[in-house]
Amino acid sequence: MPYKLLFVCLGNICRSPSAENIMNHLLEQKGLTDQIICDSAGTSSYHIGSSPDSRMSKSALKRGVKMIGKARQFEKTDFEEFDLILAMDRHNYRDILSLDREGKYQDKVELMCNYATKHLDRDVPDPYYGGVDGFDYVIDLLFDACENLLESIINK
Ligand code: 4NP
Repeated sequence: MPYKLLFVCLGNICRSPSAENIMNHLLEQKGLTDQIICDSAGTSSYHIGSSPDSRMSKSALKRGVKMIGKARQFEKTDFEEFDLILAMDRHNYRDILSLDREGKYQDKVELMCNYATKHLDRDVPDPYYGGVDGFDYVIDLLFDACENLLESIINK
């Protein structure tokens, strides 16, 4: 059975699709696409069905990552479906756990930045209302976190 990862942000058009596509990029490089499966979702319904934000896709492409996917909203069934759920920021983390009324799945939900080693951020900053630098920074931070997350799963 493959190990299943779900990346979650607010809109599912900037940060979480970046994390998903960066992780898939690393999995392809390492020949691990059969063993680890990635998906992403948003806590909000704002952008359901939308492609990744074009500004985010441009920043990702500079680092060799082609962004694919369509936004969907996080749903309660995701708690059972996935082995690990990575929240991009502390708001997302709280919103996800608020759907777990019985507290059954708390151990499956973690902050993405817990895996970053070259960055001190606790949250992946929301780039939506800022400039190009913010999008580039998200990609840099997510490469860092994804690389270490992948190591930690491999070494489990
Ligand atoms: P994301 O970015 O959560 O990283 O996908 C955002 C996308 C849309 C909005 C906010 C953040 N919005 O307010 O529409």
